[in-house]
Amino acid sequence: MADDLLIIHAAELVTLRGPRRARAKQEMSDLAIVRDGAVAVSDGVIVDVGKTESVLKEHDATGVETIDASDKLVMPGLVDPHTHLVYAGSREFELELKAKGKSYLEILQEGGGILRTVNDTRAASAEELYRQSAKRLESMIAHGSTTIEAKSGYGLDRDTELRILETIMKLGNDYPVDLVPTYLGAHAVPPEFTGRADDYVDFMLRDVMPEVARRKLADFCDVFCERGVFDVDQSRRILLAAKGLGMKPKIHADEIHTTGGAELAAEVGALSADHLAKPSDDGIMAMARKDIIGVLLPGTQYSSMSKEYADGRRLIDLGVPIALGTDLNPNCWNESMQFTISLACYKMRMTPAEAITASTINAAAALGLDKKVGSIERGKRADILVLDVPGHTHLPYKFGTNLCSLVIKDGKKVWEKQPF
Ligand code: NIG
Ligand code: FE
Repeated sequence: MADDLLIIHAAELVTLRGPRRARAKQEMSDLAIVRDGAVAVSDGVIVDVGKTESVLKEHDATGVETIDASDKLVMPGLVDPHTHLVYAGSREFELELKAKGKSYLEILQEGGGILRTVNDTRAASAEELYRQSAKRLESMIAHGSTTIEAKSGYGLDRDTELRILETIMKLGNDYPVDLVPTYLGAHAVPPEFTGRADDYVDFMLRDVMPEVARRKLADFCDVFCERGVFDVDQSRRILLAAKGLGMKPKIHADEIHTTGGAELAAEVGALSADHLAKPSDDGIMAMARKDIIGVLLPGTQYSSMSKEYADGRRLIDLGVPIALGTDLNPNCWNESMQFTISLACYKMRMTPAEAITASTINAAAALGLDKKVGSIERGKRADILVLDVPGHTHLPYKFGTNLCSLVIKDGKKVWEKQPF
């Protein structure tokens, strides 16, 4: 097969060459950088990686589309392992409530927060839901995300949850991005079940989850395990049932209170436990022992006006493999993994190299896709970014702007910065 794309002369080529699994501790600091690096792509797959000189010896550039990445950073496409991409409406007015001191859970208990978005999403047609979500997805791709997890959870009733999952599937088919669907029926107790969370769990188990599994609409099943939302016993019931139906468990764990979510993640063999702003020490050690990935979402603390970011530094030092995600949702309208990387460095004391590992190979591992994406190595999908900075340390350092100059998905240019 002839090459169909060459990228040459990258100032820094971040390959992340190494084990095809989540990296922990010191491994997270090794980006396996090649200076003056080059990548050859054929049929959507990476076929060679190395110094420009040696790649050009093996691959004739004549007639092959060649990108000169001089003075630029080339790295794997970003993987966003935790988003609530599909919803209708917005909640910008909550910003003022939060500024005046209302907490996230208070807003939810008063029928706002997630429940407000549930109303908006139930009222939206499938076309409207698609249109609003597609706009966000386009922006995420433009900011370099080439693989994105997307959860349901703003329908809660059977038909709207199915509509959200169908929308995720359609978006994944229509856009040049891998979308990984997650069923999050246990995102909040819907108004028709107020005060009857156990009955709502019965309803999901009986009326919704078998249908989601039968139609293969979700790879993962997630729960919001939190004081006043779903407790550990309810979360366990849902996740064990999901496992029985062939969906892999994930947990919104220890986000606001220490609830036992990290321990539950270890107990049920979740691929990841997400948020972890307040895990117990036992929970952290249980995760580290079982190599359960901690997906940290610093955008949430930022938008929730919380000072209590997850302690990324400590989690890494204790051996939990860490990934990062945007948590894009109407409370945290964050479409950019670049901004997330910056927050991780400035607010959670992760180094630029650790934050980049967490947003590529480790995020891929949090979705079970570490053999396919997340690094620039022979045989992997050609999901590659060219960024307009001379090295990886500039990525978190220069925040608040899109640094991508080119986004490549499966070997094809899917987004390019327009020159003036
Ligand atoms: O991950 N914490 C639960 N779910 C989302 C927030 C959803 C919302 O506020 O609409 C999260 O932060
Ligand atoms: Fe979330």
